[in-house]
Amino acid sequence: MKPLSLLQLQILNYLNDGKCHSGNTIGEQLKISRTAIWKQINQLVALGLKIERIPQKGYQLTQPFIPLQEILIRQQLKHPMKREIDFHLFSEIDSTNRYLRDLQSTPAVSICCAEKQTRGRGRFGRNWISPFGENIYLSSRWELNCCPSKLSGLSLVISLTILESLKKNHIDQDIRVKWPNDLLWKDKKLCGILIELTAETNGFAHVIIGIGLNVNTATQNELLTEKPWCSLYEITGKYFDRNSLIASILETLDTNLELFLQNGFGFFQERWQEYDYLNGQYISVSQVRGSMCGYASGVTDQGLLCLIDDNGHEHHLSSGDTSMSSINPALL
Ligand code: BTN
Repeated sequence: MKPLSLLQLQILNYLNDGKCHSGNTIGEQLKISRTAIWKQINQLVALGLKIERIPQKGYQLTQPFIPLQEILIRQQLKHPMKREIDFHLFSEIDSTNRYLRDLQSTPAVSICCAEKQTRGRGRFGRNWISPFGENIYLSSRWELNCCPSKLSGLSLVISLTILESLKKNHIDQDIRVKWPNDLLWKDKKLCGILIELTAETNGFAHVIIGIGLNVNTATQNELLTEKPWCSLYEITGKYFDRNSLIASILETLDTNLELFLQNGFGFFQERWQEYDYLNGQYISVSQVRGSMCGYASGVTDQGLLCLIDDNGHEHHLSSGDTSMSSINPALL
């Protein structure tokens, strides 16, 4: 589904002051009938936008909503990107990662964002719940001069990139990175990352980096998943313009990918240790071959997780799903 139409954007422009506006007033301003406004509002509500209809008065947004717009993202890029980028914005799509996977390849970095995903994909075949207009569902496709075995380090770099972008936007609460690629605040998930390798040619890895960042959802009103999660709104009590956060993430990503390709993960290792959520915790790592428990003890300069098992042996793990675990009673 295409981005919001110009008319829908104009209507939202009126409603964005948070006040109640009658269909008549908006219609007069836009030189269209009250019924035409009513139809457009119905479409926006069907998409998932929270617009209250107040009898005899009109329409009101229940929370601020700035639509995703390419022009706003481009305007807020503070530095020129090193690579050319092309945008694909949608009001609704199944999955932004899926879209880029099927998109014909171009020399530019392709970016896909949507207001809503109907089949957002998470790691290990999980769903990523993606309500309309509240959060960031952002995928970008890159051709990286890097062998696929280094991709485990790449996923850590993406987590640090998002953390850095949040800090640039003065979101400086105690947000941590969880190996290999989650962001957490107070044990609740704020952001998830899904990296997919689509091809490998002549030493170049073609990767899609999918980022799901919870931004404006008022978490106390929504029970989206069985696992605890949070949003920037919950952390800060403020609503954010997603266009500006996306611009900041893309810029930081552009720079950090370059640094990663030139220097490897080692360049980021110290920063990782500073924000490492798992460090020193007794955890369980589930992998295709089974689960392992032990103490997390940082990461190597390749981005591998160091795990000290119950016999004191150190393992370096390149993939897996990590969770806090209760300590083996035999060890107490
Ligand atoms: C995780 O399981 O933690 C990873 C979640 C990744 C979700 C993002 S949202 C944008 C992109 N499109 C998808 O379908 N998934 C990723």
